[in-house]
Amino acid sequence: MFTPVGAVEATLTIFFNDRPISARPGETVAACLLRANTSSFRTTPVTGAPRLPYCMIGHCFECLVEINGVGNQQACLKVVEDGMKIRVQQGAAIIPGVS
Ligand code: FES
Repeated sequence: MFTPVGAVEATLTIFFNDRPISARPGETVAACLLRANTSSFRTTPVTGAPRLPYCMIGHCFECLVEINGVGNQQACLKVVEDGMKIRVQQGAAIIPGVS
């Protein structure tokens, strides 16, 4: 579905639910996870339905994931960093200090 454009090598490694995924400098978390055939970025708080990115420009919030222990991160706007730990966001994010 997603094919990299250009010859930039995947020199970084990110982890999605502990699975290592090769990443290219400058690409977004969403692009990298979609290229790796990820089936769900988050689940809805009410029904638990799996969701995937839709707009890829920061408007729809369907791409929310947990990154390095912090929830509600828009994967389509975050650029990959080596060693980044990403997890599926299950329902509403738990944000410390916010109830
Ligand atoms: S895909 Fe729509 S906000 Fe990220």
